[in-house]
Amino acid sequence: MAVKRILISEAKEGMELAGDVYDTKGRLIAPFGTVLDKEIIRKLENYDVVVLKIIVKSDIDDIFMESSAYERSEESGYFEKIKQSEDFKTFRYSFEESVDELSNKLNEVVYKNEEIDINGLLESVKKVINSNSSRYNLMDILSCMRGYDDLTFAHSMSVSLICNVFAGWLGYGAKDVELLTAAGLLHDIGKIKIPKEIIAKPSRLTDEEYRIIKMHPILGYEILKSQPVDNRIRNAALMHHEKCDGSGYPQGLKRNQIDDVAKIVAIADVYDAMTANRVYREGMSPFDVIEYFEMCIDIFEPGYLMIFLQKIALLYVGSTVLLTDGTEGKIIMINSTSLGRPVVLSTNNKAIDLSKDKSIKIAKLI
Ligand SMILES: [Fe+2]
Repeated sequence: MAVKRILISEAKEGMELAGDVYDTKGRLIAPFGTVLDKEIIRKLENYDVVVLKIIVKSDIDDIFMESSAYERSEESGYFEKIKQSEDFKTFRYSFEESVDELSNKLNEVVYKNEEIDINGLLESVKKVINSNSSRYNLMDILSCMRGYDDLTFAHSMSVSLICNVFAGWLGYGAKDVELLTAAGLLHDIGKIKIPKEIIAKPSRLTDEEYRIIKMHPILGYEILKSQPVDNRIRNAALMHHEKCDGSGYPQGLKRNQIDDVAKIVAIADVYDAMTANRVYREGMSPFDVIEYFEMCIDIFEPGYLMIFLQKIALLYVGSTVLLTDGTEGKIIMINSTSLGRPVVLSTNNKAIDLSKDKSIKIAKLI
């Protein structure tokens, strides 16, 4: 049985609960197996239930593939401003040039048995980092990048850049920053061996196609086994879809069995998958992503996850936002126990603590 976590706002009639739902006093309000209807959804809302676990028929890796509630409606807002800026265009040029280089080099590694030139690859990542001279943070710039078809290599480059920033946030030294940057770059190398029609398919994958996709961690490990790379880089390729609760693949490893580098790459990987524009949907906004991650404390390593989310949330202190009730304001404080719901100071000087008022949230950054 595959289980998906959703926000109450995403609940639809016909969905089936994958666990008992209790109110804040511990009283059962809807048992496991309940099929949602309008009345039950309203009841759950009335009890301030935020998150539900529901049963999904096929275990789609990209859990947001069909989610419309998370669609980012940032156009003409903050992200549109980034896309229009000259600095972004310069960055995009350098990014795309490096993605081409990465694609050529990794194809030669896989199909011509060439030796991986880790230093050469790291040089091209550094070039991309140095090409960002804009006032916008790298995370936001990356989320504006996508929209073209070479998903594997652009995604690998993004994950590598996110890992590079993340390693700095974790206080790592230069050697470990490089290791994580390289691990991010190579984590999906096994996808080179998966048919392109499956990788780039914009619609829902069949069970058979999904089974084939799920082979990429082992294929990646096999490719890297004969390459002169650190064993933790091989482990990142093999284990980046493992989950701490044992529900991941390919081996269903648990927390202590998963390599730390793979745990860090896993967070960067999911963050990029959620924020990036894809063929089939717009990326999610940062605060929705943070809220989603906050529900996943049993999936990712909490020590790494909390540092990542805190740092992401802090990037937006001072940002102007529009709330879902139409109020405009500035983020003035992050709530450490609810990072996705900061305190916003409205234009008429009213402090709105989104962690207390769950009926509204950030609609977009402006
Ligand atoms: Fe992957």
